[in-house]
Amino acid sequence: MNESTRRLAERRERVFGAGAKLFYDEPLELVRGEGVHVFDAEGRRYLDLYNNVPCVGHAHPHVVRSIQRQVETLNVHSRYLHEGVVRYAERIVARHHESLERVVFTCTGSEANEVAIGMARAATGKRGIVCSDRAYHGNTELVHKLTWAGGRPDPELRAVRFPQRYRPVEEGLSDDELCERYLDDLREAIESLTASDVGLACLVVCPLFANEGLPDVPGDYLARAAELVREAGGLVVADEVQAGFARSGQWWGYETAGFVPDIATMGKPMGAGVPFAGAVARAELVERFRKHTGYFNTFAASPLQAAAGAAVLDVIEEERLDRNAREVGAHLAEGLRRIDCPGIGDVRGRGLFLGVDWVNDREARTPDRDGARRVVNRLRERGFLLESAGAHFNVLKIRPPLVFGRDHADLFLEAFEETLREVSRS
Ligand SMILES: Cc1ncc(COP(=O)(O)O)c(C=O)c1O
Repeated sequence: MNESTRRLAERRERVFGAGAKLFYDEPLELVRGEGVHVFDAEGRRYLDLYNNVPCVGHAHPHVVRSIQRQVETLNVHSRYLHEGVVRYAERIVARHHESLERVVFTCTGSEANEVAIGMARAATGKRGIVCSDRAYHGNTELVHKLTWAGGRPDPELRAVRFPQRYRPVEEGLSDDELCERYLDDLREAIESLTASDVGLACLVVCPLFANEGLPDVPGDYLARAAELVREAGGLVVADEVQAGFARSGQWWGYETAGFVPDIATMGKPMGAGVPFAGAVARAELVERFRKHTGYFNTFAASPLQAAAGAAVLDVIEEERLDRNAREVGAHLAEGLRRIDCPGIGDVRGRGLFLGVDWVNDREARTPDRDGARRVVNRLRERGFLLESAGAHFNVLKIRPPLVFGRDHADLFLEAFEETLREVSRS
C-alpha cells in the first residue's frame, strides 16, 4: 500500500470508527470505473468480477447522460405527477410476471424487504416470517432479524436450513428425497408458527440463495416451498436484490428457480448507483399496504431514480445483457470446471453469478475460508477483483458487471489458474 492510501485508510478508520470493514488485506483506493474495469489511485487497472450495482458497466455513457440530464432538469420527492416516474413504474411491472402489477418504490433493498413484510402482514393479519438459516436481507431492525437467524430464537421468526446438494443435510438420498428433507424443515417451521398465536405471514427467500453461497438446489424446492406456504395461508417474497435484473441469465431469479412469488423485492443494480429499490406485488397487496400505512419515502419514486432506472433497463434491453449473462456465464463456468485444482470443491451458479466452493479436503468437502481469502487477495494483487461469501465464507463469488465478455472471462480464467498454482505451492 502506498503512503497516501495508507493515510487515507487511517483517516477513514478515525472518522468512521473501528470496525467499518474494507475488502482485501491491502485495501484498495479506487478513483474511476469504466465498463468492466476500475482504476486505483496509481492508475492501475483491475478487472471487476464482483460489482453488481454497476450491472450495465461502470460509468455507462447512456446512464451517465440520463442521470445528468435529470439532475439538471428537476429532482423532487414523489408527491407530484411526473411522466418519467410513472413510465418507469409501468416498465418495471411489465418486466415481471403478469400477476405482479403494482409497485412501491424505496431507496434500499432493506426498505424494500421491510415493505414486503409489511404487505404480507397487512394482507394475512399474521406476523410470522420464515427465512433460511444463513440469509441476509438487509439492515433495518426488522429485516436484520433474518440475518443468519438459525439457532437464534425469536417468536415471530423461523429459520430453516437452506437447501443444497453439495453438503446435504443427509448423504445418500436421491435428489427428490433430499428436496423432501429440506421441505420437512419448512413444514415444521410453518406448523410451529401456525400453532402459535403469531401465525404465518410470509416466506422471504433469495431465489438463488446468493448469500448462502449459491447452492445447487435439489428437486423443485422453491416451487414446492411456495405451495406449502400458500396452503398455510402465507405469502412468498422473492428477494431479487442480488438475483434480479438479468443476473442469472433470466430477468428474475424466480424465473430461473421456477416459481412465481406474491411479492418481489429489487435493489442494488436498479439505479446503477443512484439508491433505488422497490417491491412489486399483486394489486390487492399493494393497495391494502398503502391504505394501511400511507407509506411515504422522501427520496423514493423520484424523477432522478426513474431516470437512472430507465437508463439501466434501456441498456439491458438494447445490449441484450440477459443473453450475454447466459452465454458468457456458461463459458466461464465451463472454464472453471475444467481447472484441475484440489482446492476447487464445487463450481456452481447461473448466468454471470458463479461460486467456487474452496475446500481443503475435496473428499470431506471441508470449507477452507482462509484458503479462499488467500486466493482473493492474490487475485487482487494480480488485478482481478472478487470476494468470498457463503455460509462458510469460503465461496469465491464471481458476479461481474453484465457487460463482461468472453475475452474478459478468458483473461480471468488464465490468471485464476496461475494464481491457484501459486497459492497451492505457498
Ligand atoms: C439478498 C439481499 N437482500 C437485501 C439486501 C439489502 O440491500 P441494501 O443494502 O440496499 O439495503 C442485500 C444487501 O446486500 C442482499 O444481498
